This record gives sequence, structure tokens and C-alpha cells, in this order.
Amino acid sequence: MRLITTVREMKSLARETHAQGKSLALVPTMGALHDGHLSLVRRAKRACNVVVVSIFVNPTQFGPGEDLARYPRNLEKDLSLLAPLEVGVAFAPGVADVYPAGFDSFVEPGALAAALGGASRPGHFRGVATVVLKLLNIVRPDAVCFGQKDFQQALLIRHLVEDLNLDVRLVICPIVREPDGLAKSSRNAYLSPQDRQAALALYHSLQRAQELADAGETDAGKIVEEMKRVFAAEPRIALDYAVLVNPARLEPVERVTAGCVALVAARIDATRLIDNWIIAPPGTSDEARIQLALARGREA
Ligand code: PAF
Repeated sequence: MRLITTVREMKSLARETHAQGKSLALVPTMGALHDGHLSLVRRAKRACNVVVVSIFVNPTQFGPGEDLARYPRNLEKDLSLLAPLEVGVAFAPGVADVYPAGFDSFVEPGALAAALGGASRPGHFRGVATVVLKLLNIVRPDAVCFGQKDFQQALLIRHLVEDLNLDVRLVICPIVREPDGLAKSSRNAYLSPQDRQAALALYHSLQRAQELADAGETDAGKIVEEMKRVFAAEPRIALDYAVLVNPARLEPVERVTAGCVALVAARIDATRLIDNWIIAPPGTSDEARIQLALARGREA
């Protein structure tokens, strides 16, 4: 695996790779890699000849008072996790290289960025869209892989790719969970053992939504009430939102049908966790659930 730390070198390697007729996949990350990221890398390897994993804690997607300073950074450990996967390139540029003095152009995402996570974290998705477009322009990948866990982010990137006619295939990969259901996240590292236990409320509330849908409940209001009940039973957690939405515009639905998405966000002290679950008939695979939600997301 080659470690590249400058935009210039990355651009030139991307040019060489394409000139050799090889395809390139990008897995954008902020490091602190876990099994969720590694599953994206494995998927990227299936899609293209060369995989680039970017490792960059993007300052523009953190708001004032958020965890930019304490976000876990351990490049050596990240590289050691990538080594056995035979990744082509780890691209870990410096902040001043990505955002040189005088940098003054941002991508302004539309309505999708204002909902849910965007309401709790103003400017977050503007920073995400900006850095993702920059990474796509630097690496020029044929495919780019994102995780379903950041569902709103994945939808927003799909918009970005379509709205700006970007020449890249977007691959969205299922959430990877701990054995007890907690979604893998770099921020899980912040949790004390008690907080770690309390964090299960996110997964349990999503499971409750699917259980109720399986039992024939279609009233979204009732299901959301039940989801909130799961959080209310856990005093360590402050619920940000628990919603059932149509993935087209992330607007709440009244009736729950296959392809609706249950999304939750909650804080445990200063740690904000998110998770989601695509409602589908029992036995539907994770990949099929994603396709179902994406198809519904095109309806509007
Ligand atoms: O999902 C993330 O880790 C980040 O938002 C991303 C896509 C790497 C952009 O900084």
C-alpha cells in the first residue's frame, strides 16, 4: 500500500492509474477505521482495480463546540488495519493542502441538508459536500463507496452526483453492527461501559419499529411513539430525533410501507450517535433494503 500525503501526488497517481486503463474506487473516511470502513474497502475492491482510502478529518463539517479537536486520529493504526486488505493507496492529506490559505468556495447542498442531522448540526452537510466534491476531483474515481449508517449523507451525495453530473458510480454499503446490534462508529470510542450499554437504545428503537411493522402496524405516529418510549426508558440518553421518513426528501410519512426509513440520533453526554433501519418484509437482505429505499427515494 502506498501512503500519499499531498493532493499533487494523489492527482498524478490518479492520472497514471487511468492512463494504464485501470479503474479506481474511492472510500472516503475520516480515519479511526473500524469494521464498517473495512467492509466499504472490501466492496470497493470488488468494484475496481485500485482502491484509494482517503483519511482526512474534515474541519469544515464540524460546527463550533463539536468534537473536531478530540476526534480520534491514529494514522499508524489505520494503516495497519488497511494493510491486510491490500488497498492500493491510503491518501492522508494535511488540512492546509486541502484547504489552502484563501480557500473560499463551498458546495451548498439543498433541502436535504437542512433536515434532521442538518438541523442539529448547521453547516455540517455543506462541509461534507464540499470535501467530497474535492476528493472526487482529486482522485477521479470510477466508483465511490459510502456507508448506509450515514443515511442522510449518502442521499445527499447521491444528489450531488446527479445534480452536478459527476462521472462516478455511487455504491452504498450496509451498516456493520456489533454482535449486540450497536452500529459501528468511530465515535463509539468515546463511550464509557455504561454509555456503551445505554447506546443500545438506538438499535433497540429501530428494531421496535421493524417489529411493529412486521406485526402489521402502518401508523407511523404510533410506531414513532414506541421508538421514543425505548429512549425514554434510558436516562443516560438525550434523544435528538426518532423519525420514519420517505427517503425521497426525508419527510415524515403517515403510513409505513416497505422502503421507509427509521432514523434516530441521540446524545450521550457530548457524544452524538446516529443509526437507521430500512423497513422491509422479514427476510429482506441488507443490500435489498438499500435498493428498496433508493428506489423510493427516486419517487418524488
Ligand atoms: O462519513 C465520513 O466519514 C465523512 O463525512 C466523509 C464522507 C469522509 C467526509 O469527510
